[in-house]
Amino acid sequence: MATVYLAERSDFEQRVAVKLLHRTILSDLDRKLFERERRVLASLEHPGIARLIDGGITEAQQPYLVMEFIEGEPITDYARRIGLSPAARIGLLIDVCDAVAVAHAQLIVHRDLKPSNVLVGKDGRCKLLDFGVAGGCR
Ligand SMILES: Nc1ncnc2c1ncn2[C@@H]1O[C@H](COP(=O)(O)OP(=O)(O)O)[C@@H](O)[C@H]1O
Ligand SMILES: [Mg+2]
Repeated sequence: MATVYLAERSDFEQRVAVKLLHRTILSDLDRKLFERERRVLASLEHPGIARLIDGGITEAQQPYLVMEFIEGEPITDYARRIGLSPAARIGLLIDVCDAVAVAHAQLIVHRDLKPSNVLVGKDGRCKLLDFGVAGGCR
């Protein structure tokens, strides 16, 4: 559904992830829905959720999102690689639940929670990605 690029700003040092969605924005309704999606994603501010930095529509009418780049690995790979104890695994999962709860409090449902959408960074903290298919109640 999307291609994600690691990108770097040209004016100052900042690495970001650019997610180019494969769908095209053709109608005014598409545009409105994408704008709403961006607003919803931008309102999600939490250390456990990859931050949205920007977004827009390319000349080819493809929508894109610019996000904080998370240098990490899926939560299951991380747990296996460092041989995390069961208690620490549960601790990480509770952090994921906290981030999900913050989204729910804003009436945003992720709808695709799975290991590849939960990355653990070098600091051992988890970050939720891929709210792109989120269907909120608003
Ligand atoms: N902000 C990000 N930082 C680092 N890697 C990312 C980021 N966003 C996505 N990725 C990588 O790209 C993959 C696909 O992105 P994702 O948003 O999950 O889209 P899809 O809808 O294709 O699953 C992720 O599983 C992750 O490996
Ligand atoms: Mg994904």
